[in-house]
Amino acid sequence: MRKIAVITSKGGTGKTTTVINVAHCLSLSGNKVLIVDCDSQSNVAIAFDKRPARGLAELLTNGQVDIIPLRPNLYLIDSGGRRLVETELYLARQTDRETRLRQVLANLRGSDYVICDCPPAVNLINLNVLNYVDGVVIPVSMDFFACEGARKTLILLDEIYDKIGHHVELLGILATFYDVRTRVSKKIYHQLLAEFGDKMFATRIRINTQLKEAQLYRRTIFEHAPYSNGALDYFLFTKEITDTKRSEEAVVAEGSEQWKA
Ligand SMILES: Nc1ncnc2c1ncn2[C@@H]1O[C@H](COP(=O)(O)OP(=O)(O)O)[C@@H](O)[C@H]1O
Ligand SMILES: [Mg+2]
Repeated sequence: MRKIAVITSKGGTGKTTTVINVAHCLSLSGNKVLIVDCDSQSNVAIAFDKRPARGLAELLTNGQVDIIPLRPNLYLIDSGGRRLVETELYLARQTDRETRLRQVLANLRGSDYVICDCPPAVNLINLNVLNYVDGVVIPVSMDFFACEGARKTLILLDEIYDKIGHHVELLGILATFYDVRTRVSKKIYHQLLAEFGDKMFATRIRINTQLKEAQLYRRTIFEHAPYSNGALDYFLFTKEITDTKRSEEAVVAEGSEQWKA
């Protein structure tokens, strides 16, 4: 089971859009996928037109939750909306305040991927997420402040490691809202390449109105406009995520071959 967070401290960088479309793409190719919405805005539930009674807020406080089927192989734990904000205040008074999510999801079985959508903040909920996941994707929209958001998030990963020794892998930085027509997009993308090098995903998510439209119709891009640039970009990006898994598996397989020899 791979546990991945799509996270950065800047809002409006395409986190939720990435979570929804990557999760659906993974499920379409036969993976069992659970989305955990950790943002009190509950944008994932809204995007799928669901109103779950119990979400992460309840899971973190009394261990009860509704797991909502969204599509074949695709499930959601909603955040609980405003109740998650109250939960954060409650958590602040607990001794396990930064690791509660990891404990309550420890017995979760049967998913190939758990994907966390995160709020744009450095808060207790995000610390819980980083203590739970093994890898993060940091989406950076093509503007100056978004690069700063990526840097802050990377510092947070180091702090988590120093504090409790939990290693979270930076799977990569994803360029979003890429506008092929503007110089500013190219410039920021090249700055990111210079700073983060091979940690940049090869796929860039271009600006595509159909991604916005899909949410309006409560569909993913693969349902709404499967031949759009948005669908192509998210398909290619998902492939990069699954390919990293394959390379890890290849290393394990290689290791066992050597053992036999
Ligand atoms: N590549 C894109 N092209 C056009 N609109 C996009 C794109 N990605 C996201 N959007 C739209 O931008 C808004 C913010 O995206 P969202 O995924 O909600 O960001 P975040 O979760 O980081 O706040 C949403 O209305 C979404 O539909
Ligand atoms: Mg969001």
